[in-house]
Amino acid sequence: MKKRFKHALVIGASSGIGAALVRQLASEGCRVAALARREDKLRELTRDAGEDQVITRVHDVTAIDEVPALFQEIARDLGGLDLVIYAAGIMRPVAFDEFNTEADLEMIRTNYEGAVAWLNPAAERFGAVGRGCIVGIGSVAGDRGRSGNPAYGSSKAALDTYLEALRNRIARKGVRVVTIKPGFVDTEMIAGIPGLFWVISPEKAARIILKKASRGVREAYVPARWRLVMAIIRRIPSFIFRHLKV
Ligand SMILES: NC(=O)c1ccc[n+]([C@@H]2O[C@H](COP(=O)([O-])OP(=O)(O)OC[C@H]3O[C@@H](n4cnc5c(N)ncnc54)[C@H](OP(=O)(O)O)[C@@H]3O)[C@@H](O)[C@H]2O)c1
Repeated sequence: MKKRFKHALVIGASSGIGAALVRQLASEGCRVAALARREDKLRELTRDAGEDQVITRVHDVTAIDEVPALFQEIARDLGGLDLVIYAAGIMRPVAFDEFNTEADLEMIRTNYEGAVAWLNPAAERFGAVGRGCIVGIGSVAGDRGRSGNPAYGSSKAALDTYLEALRNRIARKGVRVVTIKPGFVDTEMIAGIPGLFWVISPEKAARIILKKASRGVREAYVPARWRLVMAIIRRIPSFIFRHLKV
């Protein structure tokens, strides 16, 4: 199989989309560093792919102070770095009439602040050498102010804007910055949520994401049909959108 990337770092790699990305990258011969909090799940990745292929680090992305040293350590231990994917994310269930600041800030810290902490050093490193690929996993939920989960949606909107700005800074130096907006993917995050449609497997999502990353597209909805759906949803006037319980 063709090796599209040689050395990759996946943050949020213990389950779902992140784990599927690690497995696919490793199967192509890429050396991958997989990060998350659950050590047992990370160990499964190393066991399946082999220690030569996948190295792991237990890390909580809200421990931002750890990031600069850990980033350097991982790049050294991998023997290089040409792909960094931020897949870590949480979506706390929030009742429609609930305003839970603690849960909201936890989502913002994980989905957005952690991304800035990890992707800033990636941008600096790749910008300095004039190559590399940065991928951020956003969501269709960031495209509109949905009443269902304000902090989750806004954390993804913030990530979207941050990635666009990063791209505008470093794309001209030869660095690709790719924003991925999945629809519904069959992972722990959406387990038990009723009424979902067009649900795809994490393996399929990972395949599409790596194809988009290797082509260096700016933004990709996963699967692509969400682009049209979101183009329509973005155009719904506010006075109608506010009555939709989405
Ligand atoms: N599933 C969907 O339908 C869907 C749709 C749109 C976007 N997304 C996005 O896709 C990304 C991946 O989610 P998923 O669907 O694959 O769900 P998942 O299976 O729950 O994966 C989430 C990953 O994030 C990691 N993570 C969460 N909090 C962390 C923390 N504080 N520190 C380090 N790692 C942390 C988890 O690892 P640990 O718990 O081991 O730390 C896990 O590896 C997320 O950004 C999510 O918002 C998912």
